[in-house]
Amino acid sequence: MCGIIGYVGKKAASPVLLEGLRRLEYRGYDSSGVAVLGNSTVEVRKKKGKIDEGLAHEIQSRPVNGDVGIGHTRWATHGPPCDENSHPHLDQSEKIAVVHNGVIENFDVLKQRLLKAGHQFHSTTDTEVLAHLIGEHYAKRRSGKSESNTLTLAVCDALREVIGTYGLAVICTEQPDVIVGARRGSPLIIGIGDGENFLASDANAIVAHTQRVVYLNDYDVATVTRARFDVMNLGTDTAKVQISQLEFQAEDSQRGDFEHFMLKEIFEQPRTVENALRGRVDHEGATARFGGLNMSSAELRSIERIVIAASGTSWHAALVGEYLIEEFAHLPVEVEFAHEFCYRNAPLQRDTVLLVLSQSGETADTLAALREAKRRGHRALAIVNVVGSTIARESDGGIYMHAGPEIGVASTKAFVSTLTVLSLLAVHLGRMRMLSAGRAQEILKALEAAPKQIEALLKQNEEIKRIAVKYAQAEDFFFLSRGYNFPIALEGALKLKEISYIHAEGYSAAEMKHGPIALIDSKTPTVFLVPQDSMYDKTMANLAMIRARKGPIIAIATEGDEQIRKVAEDVIYLPKTIEPLNPILASVPLQLFAYHIATARGCDVDKPRNLAKSVTVE
Ligand code: AGP
Ligand code: GLU
Repeated sequence: MCGIIGYVGKKAASPVLLEGLRRLEYRGYDSSGVAVLGNSTVEVRKKKGKIDEGLAHEIQSRPVNGDVGIGHTRWATHGPPCDENSHPHLDQSEKIAVVHNGVIENFDVLKQRLLKAGHQFHSTTDTEVLAHLIGEHYAKRRSGKSESNTLTLAVCDALREVIGTYGLAVICTEQPDVIVGARRGSPLIIGIGDGENFLASDANAIVAHTQRVVYLNDYDVATVTRARFDVMNLGTDTAKVQISQLEFQAEDSQRGDFEHFMLKEIFEQPRTVENALRGRVDHEGATARFGGLNMSSAELRSIERIVIAASGTSWHAALVGEYLIEEFAHLPVEVEFAHEFCYRNAPLQRDTVLLVLSQSGETADTLAALREAKRRGHRALAIVNVVGSTIARESDGGIYMHAGPEIGVASTKAFVSTLTVLSLLAVHLGRMRMLSAGRAQEILKALEAAPKQIEALLKQNEEIKRIAVKYAQAEDFFFLSRGYNFPIALEGALKLKEISYIHAEGYSAAEMKHGPIALIDSKTPTVFLVPQDSMYDKTMANLAMIRARKGPIIAIATEGDEQIRKVAEDVIYLPKTIEPLNPILASVPLQLFAYHIATARGCDVDKPRNLAKSVTVE
């Protein structure tokens, strides 16, 4: 949520910042802006709307010169998207510029105090208050003489007064070679270049310039110049600084020939499922193996219960995980929305392990759940995509998805990768308990067949598009299924809502008759997931109930099922697999269905309204 970039070097800052912001735009696109240090002034350009509709024109018509600067793309929390509320924000003296990701919870108290002291505000954001607060401390510290660390110390003073979360970058006309960065709750990294250095909320912004990064920890404050960087910690004074190497290239986050990132990522899935399986299938032991769980077999064996906490699409994956782990390992699993888990004081037995799922590894709600479980003395594992993300670093052990950068705001490939990893984990836990070698082999073989089956599904793209266009003008949709595919119905509905703004409800096909069936009419299509699994007859009976009320049906069925053609308007066929792996395949046509409906309606699928890729505020 919100992207930050900072540059200090020898190049002109504004093109570096603009390019970095474009690569970060998936994090928020309510507005964007840059501040560049010029000749003892700070030049700010900022504009409401997407970069190419606003900021890029603004910089073109009023260029900014200088080799030190900061930039921001906003996902508004305080104050509507407008030019005034865009970042960067200046302090009262207009010497200091700040970009910020997060929420300053006590901004109002601070604002009242600053107003009394004569400060004037031009926006309704919490961030502008922070800028003024830093400015106030800077003026006190400076009192006549400015030393090389005065800005850093002023930022520290201000942050000691702040309650809330922040990833921020600060520049000041009187310290023209320095950017100060700080984080608490929102990610921030230093990119190490040659005679130039960077700050960014996300490695995507800087991967074209450098592969060497330092992931900052909470309460770290970094002072970055062309030649060096220093990190201190507000809590402990000594910061832990470790240089890491990025594992992806700038090309990995390019759109290539695809019209949208979302489509590219859907089509990457044969490869990303392979990557999730690579090196993890142990045919000899009829199990799966993982390098980073950091738990001995005896410890894994003694787990009595698993709580899976996640948000959004990852929460839907968690629901599938519950079915998988309970079936393969007979271990009780409970799935929680990460935010609910944190605040409802859920009882956890001694041998309960928390498992969190997150594509970004930065979702604030999910991170809070992880921290809460650890605080209570429980082991917390994570399945994460982004290498080096906060959740990956703070978990006690985990499994990477290896899906590569996911840029499309609507998660697709990371969802299917999470399902793949969860299937492997369930086999691993199962083989320590009651899962037979024969059954495990069957599951592993089916998993290995999935990439080719997804490839076959993707070949139906044109047919799925034809069906999608046919229903593109509907205003309400249902997505129904049972068993393993019930969470996929929820996910199918979420995908459609997110990118096409059509009202869609995912529901249990069986539960439907207890109320929501009242909404069915001839104008409300239902996407029915009805693979030939153990629930087939019952799901078909549920389908008949919709049919009887003239609801149009788009069925997602198993290839060879001719009966379904008689009761559905349209059918999309899935290759045959074992029941627990149906969700991996069934997800793909639903992603394409949502994508084609959204494009038929002229929606910007990579930047859907009101959303941002990773939600780093609670
Ligand atoms: C999915 O399409 C998202 N827009 C959203 O629901 C997302 O899954 C959620 O915010 C969790 O993100 P994470 O997996 O990065 O933690
Ligand atoms: N709270 C700040 C604002 O509303 C920052 C939001 C963000 O993270 O983009 O401007």
